[in-house]
Amino acid sequence: MCGIVGYIGNKKSAPILVEGLKKLEYRGYDSSGVALLTDKKIEIIKAEGKLKNLVEVLANYTSAQNSSHIGIGHIRWATHGVPNELNAHPHMSNSERIAIVHNGIIENYKELKISLEKQGHKFYSQTDTETIVHLIAQEKKSAKDLKSAVQNALKKIQGAYALCVISLDEPDKIIVARKNAPLLIGIGEGENFIASDIPAIIEHTKKAVYLEDDEFAIVKNDHYEIYDVLSGTKIEKTPEILPWEPIALSKNGYKHFMLKEIHEQPDVIRKNLFNRLVAIDRPIILNEVKLSPENLKNLERIQIIACGTSMHAALVGKYIIEEYTGIPVDVEASSEYIYRNTITNAKTLVIGVSQSGETADTITAIRQAKAKGSHILIITNRADSTMARDADSLICVDAGIEVSVAATKSYTAQLMSFYLLMLYIAETKGCIKTEEAAKIKEQMLQLPQKLEEVLSHKEKIKECARIFANSKDFIFIARGINFPVALEGALKLKEISYINATGYSAGELKHGPIAMLDETMPVLAILMKGRVYDKILSNAEESKARHARLIALTSSTDENLKSIFEIIINVPEINEILSPVITTVPLQLLAYYIAEFLGKDVDQPRNLAKSVTVE
Ligand code: G6P
Repeated sequence: MCGIVGYIGNKKSAPILVEGLKKLEYRGYDSSGVALLTDKKIEIIKAEGKLKNLVEVLANYTSAQNSSHIGIGHIRWATHGVPNELNAHPHMSNSERIAIVHNGIIENYKELKISLEKQGHKFYSQTDTETIVHLIAQEKKSAKDLKSAVQNALKKIQGAYALCVISLDEPDKIIVARKNAPLLIGIGEGENFIASDIPAIIEHTKKAVYLEDDEFAIVKNDHYEIYDVLSGTKIEKTPEILPWEPIALSKNGYKHFMLKEIHEQPDVIRKNLFNRLVAIDRPIILNEVKLSPENLKNLERIQIIACGTSMHAALVGKYIIEEYTGIPVDVEASSEYIYRNTITNAKTLVIGVSQSGETADTITAIRQAKAKGSHILIITNRADSTMARDADSLICVDAGIEVSVAATKSYTAQLMSFYLLMLYIAETKGCIKTEEAAKIKEQMLQLPQKLEEVLSHKEKIKECARIFANSKDFIFIARGINFPVALEGALKLKEISYINATGYSAGELKHGPIAMLDETMPVLAILMKGRVYDKILSNAEESKARHARLIALTSSTDENLKSIFEIIINVPEINEILSPVITTVPLQLLAYYIAEFLGKDVDQPRNLAKSVTVE
């Protein structure tokens, strides 16, 4: 994972690098660092922890800051080696004449390290990255220039990388390379930029070229050249205009981005329905699906691949698609999908779901499925991402930029894509009655208003947070379509409060987890009116009988619930199949208020990153 930036031009490089890194903090915040090339040396400045620590240290380096117009920067999410200053990037060669930053994992670093140590290179960090800089230095001994040294080194490393390399011997360039980790070159006037992602450069330029796998480039002030790593052939690329405007990321008065993003959800739903659900008696318009109606009708199965919160949205997708289209749907974590023989073919629609569109496991999985002939439909919040580029069909969920590491509005937007997709498939196949579809559509249109209702009655959720904030463990139970919501509620709580939370199918509780229940265990039951209401209520009673502390999240106003549940969080009634949209939001808020009560770093929880670009 991690984020990298680079600058070469006439301006001072340090502020540009720091500003760029700020925009990439969602990719990690274990440490950060910059390498500033000056006339005399490469000045490396690093700090453990968040970027603000680097900014403080940088203040002591005014001379390097004033004289450097070329630099590279890095923000780290630790893979190899603990998050400390020593392991922070950039890393330097022993001669201190070459420095690099790296995003990715070098799989054969141990073998390379042994051989480089034998050749006299001294390692200082526990990172895989340091191997690359020593390898380049080693290659440089026999190569005619830095370009050849980098190219030779790239041929020897296995794994994933986005790299920036600078050298005191060739101070007019930055060499960059990419394999399975995103990298783009922003093209300016007499200056060029390098970044893992658009936000880091968009304030400076809207013109960019994306590097593809196995490509490397020489980036100078006024031009760049791209080459194929293996053949050395020069590659011509026309710059693209980035589909972005510079955005000032603001919390709009909310204490955290997470809270702001939770409150944006009604509007996110409106945006996603706009122009797609035009009237309840008209078919869904989903021009993004490029599969012909004929192929759609002939689909034998659907596989949905995703990670984390996106996988929970996928599980809701499975439920509704199977319910209304009769097509069997499997959902699998991308990381599991990629190391087995998946039965995928041209009659399988493979759906990749990803907020970022950059999750390494999901990218690998969809490429694997594509190679087997499946049509790849991507549901993502980033139309400019690697997955979007690989897609045969692309549904952009339009949630707007999500800053908080814990996903909220992008999940709701993904749910909306699944509702639209389900209706689109069912209507194309002719397997849903017009009246039934109309009923669902009518309720879909009511979702924003119902969510606004949820968002304006947060007292009970806050009370619940206050009472249970100090719990060591937390259990969420549900069945049917809300089972994925129980998983998501638990994930949200784990992510930002570090409480050991688990989501269970309520029916499974008696097969093991019930043994954990006692008077200290909060059990939150998602109890929406519908086909499994009574079943979940019985499971809640079973928990009560084991002295657990019961919380209900419910659309029921049944007074009898008060005798079972210590706290009752009421939500509006809604068609059961749409209920995950309504039930998820109170759980996002519950996690938020608990984390806030505990004084946790809500937007940037420890050990996590928003975009996980390593397998
Ligand atoms: C990370 C994030 C999660 C996210 C998951 C999948 O682990 O911390 O919030 O759900 O990646 O990300 P994606 O971008 O593929 O949805």
